[in-house]
Amino acid sequence: MKNMFSQTSYAKNFPAIGFGTYKAAPDENIEIISRAIEAGYRYFDTASFYGTEKFIAEAIEKSGIKREEFFIASKLWKTDMGYEKTQSAFKKTLEELNTDYVDVFMIHWPRPDLTQSDWKKLDLETWRAMEEFYLAGKIRALGLSNFLPYHADNIIKNCKVMPTVAQLEFHPGYTQTFAINYYREKNILLQAWSPIARGRVVNDELIIELAKKYHATAAQICLRFCIQEGVMPLPKASTIERMKENLESLNFEIDAEDISRLENMPPLGWSGEHPDRERVKIS
Ligand SMILES: NC(=O)c1ccc[n+]([C@@H]2O[C@H](COP(=O)([O-])OP(=O)(O)OC[C@H]3O[C@@H](n4cnc5c(N)ncnc54)[C@H](OP(=O)(O)O)[C@@H]3O)[C@@H](O)[C@H]2O)c1
Repeated sequence: MKNMFSQTSYAKNFPAIGFGTYKAAPDENIEIISRAIEAGYRYFDTASFYGTEKFIAEAIEKSGIKREEFFIASKLWKTDMGYEKTQSAFKKTLEELNTDYVDVFMIHWPRPDLTQSDWKKLDLETWRAMEEFYLAGKIRALGLSNFLPYHADNIIKNCKVMPTVAQLEFHPGYTQTFAINYYREKNILLQAWSPIARGRVVNDELIIELAKKYHATAAQICLRFCIQEGVMPLPKASTIERMKENLESLNFEIDAEDISRLENMPPLGWSGEHPDRERVKIS
């Protein structure tokens, strides 16, 4: 039986903004994560691929704040897909995070590489292992990262436990509207990776104009756009000032006409990553 209700309710507890941890421990220490906790973040997005799981665990322990007050999302890397490999990779994730459950666990990409012709079978075997951990209470919500609608359909049509969360690249200039609408219709919580496009959109004339109009920064315009589109942003930042500035995007509103202008601006700032293409190097 599909278990959409309980997971969807669970996602309603997530904060409106999470903290991205890709490259968030450049000096192999917990400093940036501890700073983010101090700034007020309680939702941390990580992945085995990022190497930041253990730093999140250490920073949470050092904070003295209870584990239950945090939300931790991690992801299964491409080379760990398949029933048995997922089992061991997930156990490793729990060990690194020094916890007995994660709040969200996602498949990072729908296939290990473009030559993988039986990716549908592989995704289903991976999902079956994740469902078992979910049913055992080790994962609170299951998720898909970088799954386009036809990848997600394979899971949704064959699963016992529905996905709760879908993570996609999303920012002004790259909104993947078809995929976003697909997940919206299914009531699956959307999350934006690279919500500031790693700085690639901050010099755009519309973003600059709106930053002036709303007495905000370009980064805040990007994050506020995500929030108003119902896509939870996961910004990464290094300084406490930027971390706080990003949280302050909760405190103003962009009017409907300007949101429409942002939705319809020319394509800009794509990362070069796409589940069905070789990576494009963007300078
Ligand atoms: N599922 C996936 O495949 C996937 C892929 C990529 C990312 N993600 C997740 O999404 C998170 C965020 O994405 P991202 O790190 O690629 O990009 P991002 O959050 O869009 O951008 C991060 C960059 O923006 C800068 N920045 C942050 N706040 C700023 C501000 N207020 N003003 C000016 N610059 C600011 C940061 O600089 P400083 O650090 O120097 O402050 C950093 O260089 C990742 O950390 C990861 O958790 C997931």
